[in-house]
Amino acid sequence: MYAEALDYLTCPHHPVAPLTLEAGEQRAEDGEIVTGALRCPVCAARYPVAEGIADLLGPIRFPETLTQALNLLPLTAWGYERTWRPNALTALTGEPFGYQRELPLITGMAAPERGGLMVDVACSNGLYARALDHARGNAPGHVVGIDYAMPMLQQARAFARAEGLRISYVRARAEALPFGAGTASVLAMGGSLNEIGNSARALRELRRVLAPAGRVALMCLIRDDRAPGRAVQSFLGLAGVSFPTLDQLNRAFAAAGLRLRAQWRYRVVVFSLLTADAA
Ligand SMILES: C[S@@+](CC[C@H](N)C(=O)[O-])C[C@H]1O[C@@H](n2cnc3c(N)ncnc32)[C@H](O)[C@@H]1O
Repeated sequence: MYAEALDYLTCPHHPVAPLTLEAGEQRAEDGEIVTGALRCPVCAARYPVAEGIADLLGPIRFPETLTQALNLLPLTAWGYERTWRPNALTALTGEPFGYQRELPLITGMAAPERGGLMVDVACSNGLYARALDHARGNAPGHVVGIDYAMPMLQQARAFARAEGLRISYVRARAEALPFGAGTASVLAMGGSLNEIGNSARALRELRRVLAPAGRVALMCLIRDDRAPGRAVQSFLGLAGVSFPTLDQLNRAFAAAGLRLRAQWRYRVVVFSLLTADAA
């Protein structure tokens, strides 16, 4: 993680005051905080930074679903962007849909050139975090990727560093984001809402953290209209992945206080641009 993140990062239990960095941290040549500790000024909880990643969760509980268990495996983290992810949207939409098509959709909705805090929520290997940081250009701000799976974050950090990007990676839950209310100019999430146990709570957290003029850029999967696709989705449902209808998804956005501004659907893949209800 980088010092820029300290302007924004809070304790997940007290998202009111930024965490402070304890003296004695070790930094890499580019200033990355590699080892150290963060402290909550409210409850005095101490959170370690190790191998460049801040851990705001501590020991993980036993995984609730098969998908959660798989996401915690180092092999899943290693293979995610090396195998499945580059081909995922082509397979799911049935048309050529590589990163050159997907990432401009996300950065076009998010508009990271406005600067500020940008968060890739449940980021896995940090694909959207890297795209946001590239598109941010010289705008002042910082990109943070959060996920609950440490191996995913370790791989995300390695990919970002290989591209020379200053992205902070933090272990936290989408249902308890470690940021103050109204602080994020961009919140992006790719495919993760389908896996988060309490997606309604995660959407409420996006709304809480979103700045008044902020944008939420989401890529979500919805229920397949075709029988073979529905059969696969039913099977994945057993592993903890849920597929709402488009109507259910949009009602969940509205229930969280998020206003739908634009939406594109490609078979089961839906891109949505959301803002705060009052915006
Ligand atoms: C489908 S992958 C995300 C893919 C990634 N956004 C992308 O576009 O390449 C789902 C990720 O969500 C994470 N995840 C699932 N539930 C989570 C939660 N409640 N809080 C934080 N991360 C979560 C998993 O660890 C996994 O890395």
